[in-house]
Formats: sequence, structure tokens, C-alpha cells
Amino acid sequence: MPIVNEQFYHSAQMKVLRTVRELREAINSHRSAGETIGLVPTMGALHAGHISLVDRARNENDVVVVSVFVNPTQFNNPDDLRTYPRTEEADCRALTDAGVDYAFIPAVEEIYPEPDNRQFDLGPVAEVMEGAMRPGHFNGVAQIVSKLFDFVRPDRAYFGEKDYQQIAVIRRMVELEGFDLEIVACPIMRHPDGLAMSSRNVRLTPQQRQTAPTIHRVLSESLAMVPARSVDEVKSFVVDAIDATDGLRTEYYEIVDSLTMQPIATWSDATSGAAVGCVTVYCGDVRLIDNITYRL
Ligand code: PAF
Repeated sequence: MPIVNEQFYHSAQMKVLRTVRELREAINSHRSAGETIGLVPTMGALHAGHISLVDRARNENDVVVVSVFVNPTQFNNPDDLRTYPRTEEADCRALTDAGVDYAFIPAVEEIYPEPDNRQFDLGPVAEVMEGAMRPGHFNGVAQIVSKLFDFVRPDRAYFGEKDYQQIAVIRRMVELEGFDLEIVACPIMRHPDGLAMSSRNVRLTPQQRQTAPTIHRVLSESLAMVPARSVDEVKSFVVDAIDATDGLRTEYYEIVDSLTMQPIATWSDATSGAAVGCVTVYCGDVRLIDNITYRL
């Protein structure tokens, strides 16, 4: 057997597709060959968290497609859209090294040749936390993810649990639209100091980067309080400890049922058997999110 240099082999294979037509054609050829397709939707600025989704997709499917698209309809803040990191060249290198088959990197006009006016009835999962703080955000996520699912018709799609509520919203959209696929939720990847990996981390100053791991440290400390202390006590502990840290300001900390995303008042309200504490923190002007699961 000849020895194949894996890295070279993969780099020879990855194709960058810019149009929906190219994407559909490529996917169709694999479908007709009976191959399974895994999709990893991303907004680029890729880090090891994204690559962990790609690795999982590689292990579970014959073909892996990664989309790289900063979706304007999910940004309710124009500055956030403007400053969102865009690193296409480095992303392509990382995807090539990770053995991706297709990177779908369309222009905005390719995805939205005309305005997408669809309003999804996402229900209660989308009304709290990010849904309340970022009006229109989840509708925008549903728009782009439903388009990607329609273009690719994947067998499985991979999302990181850092955006815990987003996964619940996407499951709801899948139910509404009747897509036949598996949504695979993948664990949060963290830096050695505990900070959740995020494309936004590159915007932190060195000083802020040192402070930001406090978020995960405080969430981890709160685990020991459950279920002996009340939900309100745990919430106060987390918010007070984060806000006591110079340079950090909590936007919200909510403890919700792990499936319904509805805030709980007592631990027994979490009828799914787990509660998730979801936090959003401003570190300077960088908005960071994280969460922790309380198994009950
Ligand atoms: O989580 C993200 O990066 C985005 O919300 C997603 C799912 C790629 C849709 O644009």
C-alpha cells in the first residue's frame, strides 16, 4: 500500500464552492452514489471549536460540507455585523487540514438574491434570553439554516452547545419545515484557562483575555450549589461574582429547562432532568456567551 500523506491528500480534495448551483450539483453526485452528507454551518473565523464539529462530521458521514457565511439577517446590531471577524484564507487552510470535502463560501447576493421575508413561528424557545435581547436574531438564524438545509439536504448537521438556545431554535425550525435530518449537538470547546472558544475572542484585548475566563470559573463554582441552594440564590451568586470582576458586566444569567428553554423557579421545574444556566457577559464591548448544565 502506498503511504498517503493525509494532509496533502485532503488539501488536494477540498473544493471551494461559491454558488448554490455548484453546491447542489456536487451534493447530488454524492447522493446518487448513496453517500451520507454531514453539514457544519459556520460564520467563519474558525477555531478549534469549529474543527471539533468538522471532526465529528467526518467520523459520522461520507462527505463533509462546511458553510462559511456571515449571515446579515441574524445581526440585529450593524456594528456587530461590521466588526465580525472575516478570515477566509485562514479558514480555508483550517478546513483543508481538517479533511473537509466542500467549503461553501457564498456572497450575500447568492444567498439573498431578494430579501427573505419569511417569519418563522419559533415559539417559546426563541422568546427568552437571546431571543429577548436580540430581536429578529433567531428568525435570521432560521432563515439561513433552513436555506442551507434546503441546498444540502444533509443527513446530519452539527452545532456547538456554546449557542445552547440556538440548537433548541434550530430543532424547532426543523420540526416546522419538516426537514429529515439529525441535529447533532457538540460539547463546548474551551481554552486551557476555561474560556469558551468563540470567534469573538480575537476582539478581546490582552487584558480582557485574562479576565474573560472568570465567566467559566464562576459558572463551574455554581455547580456545587445545586440542588442545595435555590435557583434564585445560584442566579445571584453568578451575577454578583461576575459583576464584581473589573471589566465584566453581566447582561443576563438565566437558568432554564434544558429542552424547553423556559426559565425555572425551582429545580423540580426542570422536568427534562437537567437545567442549563445561560450567561451573556460584556467584556468591554465584546459580548461573550457561555453556559453550564446542572444535572438534577
Ligand atoms: O452559530 C453560528 O455560527 C451561526 O448562527 C450559524 C448557525 C452558522 C448560522 O449563521
